[in-house]
Amino acid sequence: MAKTVTISELRIDQRIQNEAFSLKEFEKKVSRVGKYYYNILLGDKTGEIRGKLWSENVDSSLESLTPGEIVSITGYIQEYAGKPQIIAEKITVVTDMAPEEFLPVTSRDRSMMREDLESGMQTVKNPHLKQILDLFWNDESSRDNYLNFPAGMYVHHGYVGGLLEHVWEMWQLSQPFLNIYANLDRDLYFAGLFFHDVGKLEELNIVGATIVMTKEGSLNGHVVQGALKVQSLINQIPDFPEDLRVKLLHLILSHQGHLEFGSPVKPLMLEALILSMVDTNGADMNQATKHIEKQADSDDDFTDYHKQLGRSLYKGS
Ligand SMILES: [Fe+2]
Ligand SMILES: [Fe+2]
Repeated sequence: MAKTVTISELRIDQRIQNEAFSLKEFEKKVSRVGKYYYNILLGDKTGEIRGKLWSENVDSSLESLTPGEIVSITGYIQEYAGKPQIIAEKITVVTDMAPEEFLPVTSRDRSMMREDLESGMQTVKNPHLKQILDLFWNDESSRDNYLNFPAGMYVHHGYVGGLLEHVWEMWQLSQPFLNIYANLDRDLYFAGLFFHDVGKLEELNIVGATIVMTKEGSLNGHVVQGALKVQSLINQIPDFPEDLRVKLLHLILSHQGHLEFGSPVKPLMLEALILSMVDTNGADMNQATKHIEKQADSDDDFTDYHKQLGRSLYKGS
C-alpha cells in the first residue's frame, strides 16, 4: 500500500480513497440523538487532523483498534470550526506499512547534531564526569534512545530526534554564556546539559506510530526519573566525589527553573541558572517556530492562540 497524500496537503472538499494514516485517537461517543460515532485523530509525518466516523461504518472487529496502529481511510474533508476535519466513511487496518514512516522527524541534520555533542563531550576533562558520560554513551541502547527519542509529546520537540535536537540547540545557545562568564565549571555544565532531560527516555515511549507517556512518566515525571538515572550511573563509578554528585543532581533537579514547572528546587548555581534559561529559550523558540510553520498557509497575519506561550504569534512580514 502506498501513501499518496499527506495531511499538510489535504484541502476542504477533497475526497480521499484508501489513504494510510496513523491512528492517534479513537474514542466512541454518542450523539444527542443517540447515534454512536467515533472521534478520531489521524497523523503522519506532516501533522495531525481530527475527524469523525459513524459507527455503522465500523466493522465490529475494528472496535478494539488502538492508538498507534496504521489505518486506511476513505472519506472526505470538510470545514469544522474554521479547521479541516476528516469525515471517514470507511476504515481498515493496514499491516504492511512501517509505523516509523508516519512519525514526524527532526528537520535538522541528525549526524551533524550528534557530532557536535560528541565534540562537546570530548572537551570534558574532569575524569568522573568523563566517566559518567562515557558509561551512558557507550551503552548502545541508551545512545540509540538518546538519538531517536522525542523530547515531548505535544509541548516542544515532539518528534523523532527531538531530544537530540533540543540538547543540541541548548548547547548552541549556551556558547555566549560560556564565553562571557569566565568562572563557570564548564565540565559540570556540559554534563548537566547532556543529562538534564535524560528522564524523558523513561517518561516517554514510541509505540507503533505514536509517542506515549509511560507509567513512570505519569507517576514520577522526567525531572525525578532523570535524577534517579544519573544517580544509578554514579553508583557504578567507584569514588565519584560527593560534592560533584550533589552539584550534578542539582542541575538536573532544578532545570525546569521554577517549582510550579516541576522542579523541586530553583536553580541556585550559576551553571544551573544558565541551564534552565537556555532550556526555556530552546523550548519556547521550538514551539513558536512550529506553530508559525503549521499555519503558514492561512491568510491571517496572526496564528491561532498558543496555549503554552499565551499569545497569538505574528507571522506577517
Ligand atoms: Fe525538562
Ligand atoms: Fe529540556
